[in-house]
Amino acid sequence: MTAYGSFPGSRPRRLRANPVLRRMVAETRVHPADLILPAFVREGISAPVPVSSMPGVVQHTLDTLRKAAAEAAAAGVSGIMLFGVPEDAKKDAAGTAGTDPDGILQAGIRAVRAEVGDELLIMSDLCLDEFTDHGHCGVLDARGRIDNDATLERYAEMAQVQADAGVDVVGPSGMMDGQVGVVRDALDTIGREDVAILAYTAKFSSAFYGPFREAVGSSLTGDRKTYQQDPAGGVQDSLRELALDLEEGADMVMVKPALPYLDILARIAAEASVPVAAYQISGEYAMVEAAAERGWIDRDAAILETLTGIKRAGASMILTYWATEAARRL
Ligand code: PBG
Repeated sequence: MTAYGSFPGSRPRRLRANPVLRRMVAETRVHPADLILPAFVREGISAPVPVSSMPGVVQHTLDTLRKAAAEAAAAGVSGIMLFGVPEDAKKDAAGTAGTDPDGILQAGIRAVRAEVGDELLIMSDLCLDEFTDHGHCGVLDARGRIDNDATLERYAEMAQVQADAGVDVVGPSGMMDGQVGVVRDALDTIGREDVAILAYTAKFSSAFYGPFREAVGSSLTGDRKTYQQDPAGGVQDSLRELALDLEEGADMVMVKPALPYLDILARIAAEASVPVAAYQISGEYAMVEAAAERGWIDRDAAILETLTGIKRAGASMILTYWATEAARRL
């Protein structure tokens, strides 16, 4: 090819010339089936309660949860990840409400199943923090420290109760050592080899969980730095967690938060022999909504750009509060 004077012989812009061409050569496509909707179901309310730090997100009643699940399924979303919010009076040091067969999370699982059958995968958060009066993800020992192994016994019970309620996938999110293995054993013991585990493998102690704590009415004071990962210690720690989770029987692994940890996501996606999910968390959602509300960014474009970036970094699945809306637009 002849280049005339200093004119370029190679022109990458040619492939950006129009929308059809750009769509044809796109390397990354976000598909509705990639998306999972996290949802909150709260006990003892008769109408949904808006989460003020997450415009558009509510704490559902069982009825509105059913409706949200049906809408997600109709939009082509693959799954719903349920979080239970018990009445304050039911919180205690051991998080008993989390293992009550009639507890709000179990009721939520049953309600969604009754509504959508097998049209949507039902996933449940397997963690004590929504149910403890101190707000930690585990139980405390006599000195007030998180007791890893006593917590594992609680997780085993939670897994069985959630399986009995009919969940398809459990998501152990408490970052206790050994949690995946214990949950696998607990499920297998009651003959529920069919229930899959989506392990929170790389979960960082993040400032971006703030709005979630409002969404679940968290009682936490202090932080989770002794069990969630340190943002600065990310890569080695994450690869070690990955090896352990796979050895313990994780069917899928997750990185959380998403955007500040795309490097970790890419590393895990390169190493993992199982599907990898990323959780675009409450603070990531809130930042975009807040900036859009002020007219500082183009909301719809920004949402799709974040999802595309997360997918490009290596996620097969994305948990996002925009799941239903995004699926409709894709
Ligand atoms: C723990 C859990 C948390 C989130 C999901 N599971 C909160 C935490 O670790 O403090 C956060 C999700 C979000 O911020 O959107 N049960």
